[in-house]
Amino acid sequence: MSEAGSEHKKRASLSPQPQRKAPRLAAGRARALGLPTRGTTNANRLRRVDRWLLATQVPRLRDSPRPLVVDLGYGASAVTTLELVERLGPEVHGLEVVGLEIDPERVAAVAADRDPPRVDFRVGGFELAGLRPVIVRAFNVLRQYDEESAARAWDTMRAGLAPGGLVVEGTCDEWGRRSAWVALDDDGPLTLTLAARVSDIERPSDLAERLPKALIHHNVPGEPVHDFLRAFDAAWATAAGLSTFGPRQRWVGAVEALAEQGWPLVGSSRRWRHGEVTVRWSAVAPVT
Ligand SMILES: C[S@@+](CC[C@H](N)C(=O)[O-])C[C@H]1O[C@@H](n2cnc3c(N)ncnc32)[C@H](O)[C@@H]1O
Repeated sequence: MSEAGSEHKKRASLSPQPQRKAPRLAAGRARALGLPTRGTTNANRLRRVDRWLLATQVPRLRDSPRPLVVDLGYGASAVTTLELVERLGPEVHGLEVVGLEIDPERVAAVAADRDPPRVDFRVGGFELAGLRPVIVRAFNVLRQYDEESAARAWDTMRAGLAPGGLVVEGTCDEWGRRSAWVALDDDGPLTLTLAARVSDIERPSDLAERLPKALIHHNVPGEPVHDFLRAFDAAWATAAGLSTFGPRQRWVGAVEALAEQGWPLVGSSRRWRHGEVTVRWSAVAPVT
């Protein structure tokens, strides 16, 4: 089935919840850190980041004495957490996934989906409910925070990781066709990944709207992330001839050109065929 067809079948749209009055970000010590935001989610929305986790993070999980993953802010249904379990579970013996939500009503709503230790749901925020996960997937959570709060959230999550752990924080559109995420370890951000259903974009900078909070306001002239997206668009224009072989070939051609220009790309070039590219954080980090 085509990607469009399978996406259509899997859609299970959940209406946005009315936003509640936001409590302070820094709640009391015993309370979950953060603020409840809209719980919008969709089946299969997070497939791009999950594929990347599957392709790049399985060794990290397998090497851990306790392969625990936290899905922070899973939203109004358990669907994307359960998909994460289904995707990683066959590859990681003893995988445990805990979905955390700051909204207790959302935790109560998914009680029937609990199957600990394989998959569990708890109230928790950026402090990760005191768990020490190897991976944190925090998707579409920080968009509604301001930049400073989002930076503090990064620090809090990083501090809660197991040794050698990784936070993956990003955003995507409603159907998961355009996505971007940052990977961070206990030292700070390591990489930025962009991933798209390539047939759905006119140019790579269409993904700018999905940049994580740390970058989205820095996509302006003079900032490295803006230079990167401009270089990507230029390479994309040059690779137009490859469209005959399909939009993904054009993406691969454009990414090859970025590599030739010296952009520090990270990971296997095989990922490029999936409409994905990962660049070292230092090349796109904000300067202002
Ligand atoms: C837009 S939904 C995202 C759902 C799912 N992760 C996805 O990408 O489809 C954001 C969810 O994050 C939750 N949230 C916001 N801040 C949080 C925090 N600090 N800790 C845990 N959950 C949080 C909100 O309550 C909301 O349910």
